[in-house]
Amino acid sequence: MPLPPASEYDEDDDAPGNAPSPRPGPPPHLAELTLTTLTADRFEEFHRAAERGFQEETPPEFLEAELAATEPERFFGFTVGGRWVSTFGSVRRMLTVPGGAAVPMSGVTAVTVHSAYRRRGLLRRSMAHEFELARSRGEIVAALFAAESGIYGRFGYGNAASELYLSGRTDALVLRPEAAAALGDC
Ligand SMILES: CC(C)(COP(=O)(O)OP(=O)(O)OC[C@H]1O[C@@H](n2cnc3c(N)ncnc32)[C@H](O)[C@@H]1OP(=O)(O)O)[C@@H](O)C(=O)NCCC(=O)NCCS
Repeated sequence: MPLPPASEYDEDDDAPGNAPSPRPGPPPHLAELTLTTLTADRFEEFHRAAERGFQEETPPEFLEAELAATEPERFFGFTVGGRWVSTFGSVRRMLTVPGGAAVPMSGVTAVTVHSAYRRRGLLRRSMAHEFELARSRGEIVAALFAAESGIYGRFGYGNAASELYLSGRTDALVLRPEAAAALGDC
């Protein structure tokens, strides 16, 4: 049976998140991968691509708040034909270390590779890229909450804590002002 025209593949079917699919295009082993830095105007499609990797879906009304809390230039991914097939990023944090000093930290997040492109080294390449960026920003530590902790030792990460408890007075905990403003009445 002949394949349908490429345009019929444009209906994104990688639920959840309805993220832009890397199809149509060449098969993964022949695809031309471009390392692409995120820009604010592409935030939603990038976010959807990351959600696809985690099998999550953010309600549309929260996207604006997510964008407000994101520095797009700290996020990147590989694209194929303009579509994200991997996502990676970091948030700017300070980490208190033994002795009490606070050091700049890269808080790694949004680590995903589209299922068709896995085990081809995209995570490894993304991690190397992030370490270069972090070094250029003067961030001497990288840390993350690992969904799959077995992956990260090979990149130099170690287990810092197996459990985490956060506490605070609920009447004193607030959203960052820009996130609260973006959320509005939500
Ligand atoms: C985890 C994920 C990002 C890996 O991406 P990838 O491009 O396939 O990874 P790479 O091909 O660059 O693999 C790098 C190394 O990690 C290993 N690795 C990859 N995924 C692994 C896993 N789930 N468990 C153990 N090792 C893994 C590879 O074998 C490879 O090892 P090597 O270089 O020593 O041979 C991808 O599977 C994914 O998106 N998963 C769903 C989302 C997710 O779990 N993200 C991580 C949240 S912490």
